[in-house]
Formats: sequence, structure tokens, C-alpha cells
Amino acid sequence: MALKRHPCNGTETHGRYNQSLTARIFTRLILAVLGILIVALTAIDFLVYGVAQKTYVDTLRVDLSEKGRVFSSVPREELIHNFNAYAKRANVRLTLVRNDGVVAADSENDASRMENHSNRPELIQAFHGQEGWIIRKSPTMGVDFLYVAVPADQGAVRLAVPLSKISAQVNLIRQKVLLSTALAFLPSVVLAAYFARYFSSKLGAIIEFAGKLAQGDFKARLPLKGGDELGVLGVKLNETGEKLEKMFQQLEQEHTELEKLERVRKDFVINVSHELRTPLASIQGYTETLIDGAIDDPDNNMRFLSIIRQNAERLRLLTEDLLTLSRIELKRYRFQFAHYDANALLSEQIDAMRPMAEKKRISLTLELAPGGTEVFCDSEAVHQIATNLLDNALKYTPEGGSVTLGARPFENDMVMIYVRDTGIGIPADELPRLFERFYRVDKARSRELGGTGLGLAIAKHLVRAQGGDIWVESSSTRGSTFHFTLPTKDIGQPEILSAQADLLLEAGLEPQRR
Ligand SMILES: Nc1ncnc2c1ncn2[C@@H]1O[C@H](COP(=O)(O)OP(=O)(O)OP(=O)(O)O)[C@@H](O)[C@H]1O
Ligand SMILES: [Mg+2]
Repeated sequence: MALKRHPCNGTETHGRYNQSLTARIFTRLILAVLGILIVALTAIDFLVYGVAQKTYVDTLRVDLSEKGRVFSSVPREELIHNFNAYAKRANVRLTLVRNDGVVAADSENDASRMENHSNRPELIQAFHGQEGWIIRKSPTMGVDFLYVAVPADQGAVRLAVPLSKISAQVNLIRQKVLLSTALAFLPSVVLAAYFARYFSSKLGAIIEFAGKLAQGDFKARLPLKGGDELGVLGVKLNETGEKLEKMFQQLEQEHTELEKLERVRKDFVINVSHELRTPLASIQGYTETLIDGAIDDPDNNMRFLSIIRQNAERLRLLTEDLLTLSRIELKRYRFQFAHYDANALLSEQIDAMRPMAEKKRISLTLELAPGGTEVFCDSEAVHQIATNLLDNALKYTPEGGSVTLGARPFENDMVMIYVRDTGIGIPADELPRLFERFYRVDKARSRELGGTGLGLAIAKHLVRAQGGDIWVESSSTRGSTFHFTLPTKDIGQPEILSAQADLLLEAGLEPQRR
């Protein structure tokens, strides 16, 4: 079972989602900018209105008081006589009020019908010898007026202008200012739109990227460039994505390793129990037969007992091999390293194997290394390796064949020892798994010859534990040659693979260095 990633909804859906997201962010940014502009325009309008209104009122007031002073200097009779003409020429409403508040003349109304004006604030000031002014609603006309009163002979002259005149001009100014401000803002709106587009597309991409990560798509990357804050954020997010991807890959790898390891372990247990069951069943069967009476059968009892002994021997060999393997893996195998003469080691070996070779009528040859060739090794372990290889060579070579044991100097201060036979050979596709425990090319044939498939696995572990390597060349027509190397001098204790790492190697996986 592999670790699961949540599948994405497809690139097309993502593309559309991203587009609408970008559009939403863009709209929000633009609306925010427009909102700020509207607030700014309103504030400007408010300011312009206040300033323009005040300026116009001040100018008008100065103008009216100048005219008022002119009218107040005109003799009273002449003023009353030309009252309406003066008012028209000055373009104002003109009122002449006596000290007691009685209206003597008014350019727009019948003075005799007008109420007493003694309570008008602008006139009260004028009656006290000062110019007075005020903006208020005219009770007679019903609209806002600017009133300016100037002291005059026996009373005051009052000039009034409706403010609507000013309002029209103030509004015109407001319009012009607003229009030019809005025009001035136009480039900033275009600029804001450009930035809104820039940020919305970047933010959209970041949000989409975060969504992909959340869905387990750790291969996703942001196409962000640029040195601004969003660019830096993009780089950091990409780094996060890369780390997540690596972590996930590592987890996946560890998961696969564990699965394979579990399988290898199960296979190992099945293999061991299988190898134990056959001889055990045979021992049990023959023992029962003997107990049931065969012990008294002189024709068979010895034959049965020798089968029992043969199977017991097989169990002994198997358990010994398993113990050797586990001792090496658990680093409990005590290697006694020393310098040895390579040819001396090989000669001893040949002598030990000669009886077996003669029994099978196989010629056994020794090819010596140049005199003085030394190896730095554990002689017992080398003896075990060579025995396993020679045992195989003799087992898998038919009568009349030949087996050669030899040594020669090898690269990197090593000596290569080889066992060559003219036997049945090994098919090329079997070679990669040959050194795995319990691996046998022809199970039935190997078992028939008393093999359990542990000999090469042990040889491999012993060679590696001494800092060497082991490999095979084989062809079905010319037989096989097994080679292994040993150092000529002390290279320090080589690293012995842990049981788990070794199992992983056998399962075709590279164990991780932790
Ligand atoms: N020299 C050889 N020629 C042909 N096949 C070989 C040779 N050496 C090994 N093999 C093949 O490799 C297999 C594994 O060898 P290995 O020595 O590990 O096991 P075995 O000989 O079957 O049993 P064991 O060595 O445990 O008694 C053998 O079963 C055989 O099929
Ligand atoms: Mg063998």
C-alpha cells in the first residue's frame, strides 16, 4: 500500500478557480482605491466650498460697504430722489432707515408698509456709528441675503444682495475644482489598476499554490519572480513546497522499504520453516516406522537409521549456516585478522577438497599467485568461503570436468581468489539474485544434492566483512567462475551492514545512510 496523496480537481478547474479568485482580489483592491478617491474628493469639495464661499462673501461685503459709504455721503434729499436708480445701478437692494428704525425708503418694497427695522443687528451696529453686516433670511423676500449697513445722516443706508448670486459662482468653482482634481486622479487610478492587477495575480497564484499543497500536490511551484515582498514570499513558499516534497518522498521510500523488508522477513521465515520441515518430517516418519516394528526388520532397519542420520546432519548444517549468518549480521562473528601467504591458504584448501573431487572424478587444479603474495584476513573465514565455492563447483560440475582454484594480485591493493569450473553454468537472468539467502537456481536439484541455498549468502557476508567483494561470471556452455577479493594489508574494520540494510540490499533496495 503506497502513501496516498489527495488528488487535485484537475488543472482546468484550478485555472478557472484561480482566474475568478484573481478577479475577486482585483475588484476588491480597485474598489478600495475608488473608495479612497471618493473620500478624498468629498473632503476637497468640502474645503473648496468653505474657502470659495468665504472669499466671495468677503469680497461682496467689501464691495457693498464701499458702495454704502458712497451712498451715505450723498445728500439725503438727492439720495431719496434717485433712490431706485442708484439701487439699480449698484445692482443691490437699497434701504434707507431712520435712527428710530422707521424705513424711509426701500428700492424693492413700499417703505410705508415695512415694519420697524430698529431690531436688525446690522442696523443696530450702524446706528452706533459702525459698519454692520450679516447673512440671514430676508423676512420680506424669504431667501438668504448678505446685508451691509453703513451709518448715514440721521440713520443708516443698508445694501443687500441675495446669496444665490454667490452660490452659483461658488458651485461653478466647486465643479471646476472637482473636475480638475478628478482628472488629476485619473493617472493614479490607472496606476492603482496596474498594481491591483499585479498584486491580485500574485496573491491569486499564492492562494492557489497553498490550496494545492493542502491537497497534497507537493510538486506544485509558484512561478513568482521579482525581489518585492511577494516575490520573497513566493521563493519561501517554493522552498517549503520543495521540503514537503522531499519529506513526502522520503516517507514514501521508507514506507516502501518497510513493506519490502516485511516481505523479505516473511519469505525468510517461510524458507527456514520449509527447510526445517522436510528433514524433520523424514526423521519423524522413519522413527515411527522403526518403532512400529521395522527396528526388527534386518533388511531395512540400518537403511532407515542412516536416512535419519542423513536428515539430522542436514538439520545440523542448516542451523549452523543460519547461526553463522546471524552472527555476522549481529556483528558477533569474531574475526581474527592476520597476514597470510595467499598460496599457503590455497594449498591447504585444495588438500581439504581433494577427496571430494576424486570421488566425483573431477580434476582439481591450483593456480598459484606470484610468490610472496600476502592477504590480510581471517583464515577461518577464508576457508569457509573457499569451501562453499569449491563445494558448489564440485556439486554443479559433472564427472570428468575440472575445477580450478587460483589467486592473483588485483587492483587497489587487493588479491583476487577465484574458483573456476566447467560445470552446468548459471543462466544470466539468475545471476543478480544468486547471493540471496535460500536462492537456488534449480531448487529440486540443489536439495537433492543436500543444498539449502545459504552457502553463497554466507560467502558474500564473510567476504564483505573482510573488506572484499564477490561476484560471478557464468555461461551455460563454459561453466562458472566465482571471484572474491581480499585486502593485502590492514584497511581497518570494514563496515558490516546491519541485518535490515542487508535484507534491503537483497530485496533490490539501496539502504539509506542514517
Ligand atoms: N558453481 C556453480 N555452478 C552452477 N550453479 C551454481 C554454482 N554455484 C552455485 N550455483 C547455484 O547457486 C545456488 C546457490 O548456491 P548456494 O551455495 O548458496 O546454495 P546451495 O549450494 O544450493 O546450498 P548450500 O551451499 O547452502 O549447501 C545453487 O543452488 C545453484 O543453483
Ligand atoms: Mg553451496
